[in-house]
Amino acid sequence: RAEADPLRPRFHFVSPAGWLNDPNGVCQWDGTYHLFYQYNPEGAFHHRILWGHATSTDLVSWTDQPVALEPSAGPDADGCWSGVLVNDGGTPTLVYSGRLDERELPCVAVGSPDLSTWTKAPENPVIAAPPAGVDITAYRDHCVWREGSRWRQLVGSGIRGRGGTAFLYESADLRSWDYVGPLFIGDASQGSPANTDWTGTMWECVDLFRAGSGSLGSEPADGSPDVLVFSAWDDGRTHHPLYWTGRYSADAFEPAALHRLDYGGRYFYAPQSFLDEAGRRIMFGWLQEGRTDAAMVEAGWSGVMSLPRVTTLADDGTLQFAPVPELEKLRGNHTSLPGRVLAGTLDTGVTGNQLDIELDLQLAPGSVLRLAILGSGDGAEETRIELSRPADGAVGLLRLDRTRSSLDASVDKEDRSGPVPMTDGHVHLRVLVDRSAVEIFANGRPLTARAYPTLGGGHVTLSATGSMRLLSFDAWTMADIGGGARTLFP
Ligand code: FRU
Repeated sequence: RAEADPLRPRFHFVSPAGWLNDPNGVCQWDGTYHLFYQYNPEGAFHHRILWGHATSTDLVSWTDQPVALEPSAGPDADGCWSGVLVNDGGTPTLVYSGRLDERELPCVAVGSPDLSTWTKAPENPVIAAPPAGVDITAYRDHCVWREGSRWRQLVGSGIRGRGGTAFLYESADLRSWDYVGPLFIGDASQGSPANTDWTGTMWECVDLFRAGSGSLGSEPADGSPDVLVFSAWDDGRTHHPLYWTGRYSADAFEPAALHRLDYGGRYFYAPQSFLDEAGRRIMFGWLQEGRTDAAMVEAGWSGVMSLPRVTTLADDGTLQFAPVPELEKLRGNHTSLPGRVLAGTLDTGVTGNQLDIELDLQLAPGSVLRLAILGSGDGAEETRIELSRPADGAVGLLRLDRTRSSLDASVDKEDRSGPVPMTDGHVHLRVLVDRSAVEIFANGRPLTARAYPTLGGGHVTLSATGSMRLLSFDAWTMADIGGGARTLFP
């Protein structure tokens, strides 16, 4: 049933069945990329979560592997929630959140050399309780790294009446942990759930790393910042990924600036990153659905893994993102349009619902470009990507207008938008369309979302208000990465 759904992506990773949420344990081990993920093979709803597992040699096509972790009597009897993989002197080791009786505690599992079978540590849970005397909102998800001769760990949390936080721990062996203190506490009184940069009452899936050169805890020669990524959460009212740039030292994180990580908000949630063997920081996130719970169950599947993104430091000290170049091997039929001054509407001649579109533009002050994708051709349905340059100022706006993206009244159609710095109106726009999954990058600023067209159209049109120059336009159809018959594990 799931495979027959025309909205199921074909070049993004999706679970063989049922429900998928966060990426977990992402790594490259002995050359092979491993993607674990929160998985419920029983159906398209979040319940009794296992760790699904897939491997890849190129970050493009994925081979399903047997379930890596599943609940068993003990602290993870009700679920194996999110966590990470570390290399413990050559032994692959997972640190994850076991769930029992509606609370989560840190657990450890040790892997076989091929990372396919996992043995839970007899010491589980490796931390018996959250810090004493603190009124917490939640306590789960892990970031673990080596610093000198010790391991350090963050566990995501929140302090009631104050804000989200991450608790810092230290260990010699990953089994016995000393509590150091809160790394940093957010201020939930700043803003509210309506704000796209509200830091929430709980930080899910914290991910701390050095952007640029050097490693955590070392003094950077070139001022490279540390980055604390988290998913701001508030009892279902808030779900969006943010990051602080700043400096981690002396057991604390000194924030410098707060940024939105992806303008799609919950459509790129719970990201996790790792350094690959080539030294690239690769990030995955969970593309949530924008359809109702009942529609997901009916479809038989839910949740899409983002394309892997290379994460780098931009000149302005923020993060910028690009899909890994390996994805270019999926490119098929190519359409290229010569540069021109754009005025009015241009039918690009490109059609398809699996596309990679790349364009360079120069927008005059006060102009707006609209790129419509997934169009039915008669205007009944289309999903609009809008880029505008203000009459003054260097920061433009990227907006996704989904008001006409679907005739289905039950799907989410809320706008998404965010600022895009541009020099002299120059914008590099990359749009990856994979049926219901849409990933947009404007000068490295991502906006990820879902769209659920009902008419099956794939028309691509450009239209201009005001004056602009199209410097280049290229579009490719994108091949499937597998699909068809898949092995259902377990
Ligand atoms: C984030 C999250 C994590 C948790 C996991 C459970 O989406 O809620 O905080 O560990 O998903 O599946």
